[in-house]
Amino acid sequence: GRRVAIAPSVLTADLVRLADAVAAIEAAGADYVHLDVMDGRFVPNITIGIPVVEAVADVTHLPVDVHLMIVEPERYVDQFIAAGAQIVTVHVEASVHLHRTVQRIREAGAQAGVALNPATPLAAIEEILPFVDLVLVMSVNPGFGGQTFIPTSLGKIERLRRMIDERGARAVIQVDGGIKASNIRRVVDAGADIIVAGSAVFTPERSVAEAMALLREALG
Ligand code: DX5
Ligand code: ZN
Repeated sequence: GRRVAIAPSVLTADLVRLADAVAAIEAAGADYVHLDVMDGRFVPNITIGIPVVEAVADVTHLPVDVHLMIVEPERYVDQFIAAGAQIVTVHVEASVHLHRTVQRIREAGAQAGVALNPATPLAAIEEILPFVDLVLVMSVNPGFGGQTFIPTSLGKIERLRRMIDERGARAVIQVDGGIKASNIRRVVDAGADIIVAGSAVFTPERSVAEAMALLREALG
């Protein structure tokens, strides 16, 4: 079948030892490092910004996948790309002139992703689909790690898979929020290409290496 990529989110890692967290996922065979940028406006939480993205990009060979949960992301995409982001994903709910934002990301040399909150219908990306490299389906409400997967996301992923395949679009499907060894198989069967996992990878219960192996095993 399709090769599924895993993009661990370091949001719930020990942030004082962020370099160790990034080294651990790299050693465990992660495909990307997923960085969650939050502004306290688009989402209730505030996390990291441009300097931290740059610091991570400087210590890893992994492609840096930046998930912007900020209002008016178009104001900052150039700076995140200059800092080393290889994928920049913006929320469709946060950018009024989405087509311009996506073009700007690509012109600056990164891959462009668009993200959908759980309540945002797929219709919101119909027109932008031919222009993007990635569609991120949020399977929790963005803002915090460790939340529970919203089961209706599975149907949404299936419908997005059909939409992409029927139109011959090249966008890959990324799914983010509440993914564990217990549900990763269903998310991939629904059509996901890239799985984001935060609290399943950084957990007091096991090492990063064990957690990554568990996710890969669950994929079969
Ligand atoms: C949620 C973030 C996610 C989150 C994933 O707002 O976008 O990337 O950190 O963490 P888990 O896997 O714990 O839901
Ligand atoms: Zn994320």
